[in-house]
Amino acid sequence: MSTSKGTAVVTGAANGIGQAYAQRLATDGFDIAVADVVEAAATRALVEAAGRKFFSAIVDVTSPDSTKQFAADVDANMPPIVALVNNAGIYPWKSFEETDYATWRKVIGVNLDGAFLMCKAFVPGMVARKSGRIVNVASTTFWLNAPQMTAYIASKGGVIGFTRALASEIGTSGVTANVVAPGLTNTKTMRGVNEEIYDYLPKQQAIPRLIEPKDLVGVVAFFCSADSAFVTGQTIAVDGGQVRL
Ligand SMILES: NC(=O)c1ccc[n+]([C@@H]2O[C@H](COP(=O)([O-])OP(=O)(O)OC[C@H]3O[C@@H](n4cnc5c(N)ncnc54)[C@H](O)[C@@H]3O)[C@@H](O)[C@H]2O)c1
Repeated sequence: MSTSKGTAVVTGAANGIGQAYAQRLATDGFDIAVADVVEAAATRALVEAAGRKFFSAIVDVTSPDSTKQFAADVDANMPPIVALVNNAGIYPWKSFEETDYATWRKVIGVNLDGAFLMCKAFVPGMVARKSGRIVNVASTTFWLNAPQMTAYIASKGGVIGFTRALASEIGTSGVTANVVAPGLTNTKTMRGVNEEIYDYLPKQQAIPRLIEPKDLVGVVAFFCSADSAFVTGQTIAVDGGQVRL
């Protein structure tokens, strides 16, 4: 086994795009820790096949206690923690009229509070070590005419604002915070939400094909790398050139 680059934490990596981030970061030499509300056995197999160490726990990112405990457990098992990718997210497909306050709170809770709480748990250690990479996950829906997603788009706009503000506070400590904003991507969960958009949305991209999770991993790998040390507070859309920031 080659020398580890340290541990990268990826939330929501039991499935979908997060699993692809974990696999790529393992290939790049990071050990991987996963926080998810479901078991991450398939992700463990991918990370171990890449020759890296793996740790996971059942963690709800909306829980202040669980996120704090998870940070302590990862620190005890696989120090040092060098990167945090806040990928866990939910996207219920509901009109504004159908969105009750409980749904609104749930979406903001997982997508925005989750990123905040994970940063509260992990950033102090990175600041103390004067090194770290935060990658938060937004969505290109923030720049698009995308109905039925009021809570979701509000949460992802919040993620961008939070990341910019956090970057301003941690820059002097050598810790960066950036955002990756995927376009419509081929994951099992997304395909269950609204199959129709897969017919027309990819055609609006400069590169007019379906986005796969593997299309997103390069930007996250860059944000977690030494090469991005002077890049912070930024958002990169990975969507085949549909939106222009
Ligand atoms: N798929 C897309 O088209 C698309 C587009 C833009 C942005 N995104 C974003 O990318 C991320 C991943 O999307 P995906 O399509 O891979 O979704 P997914 O459903 O395949 O994976 C999300 C993971 O998050 C986990 N999760 C959900 N709630 C959690 C919680 N409270 N605590 C911890 N883990 C939790 C789930 O168990 C799951 O493993 C999300 O933030 C999503 O908003 C996805």
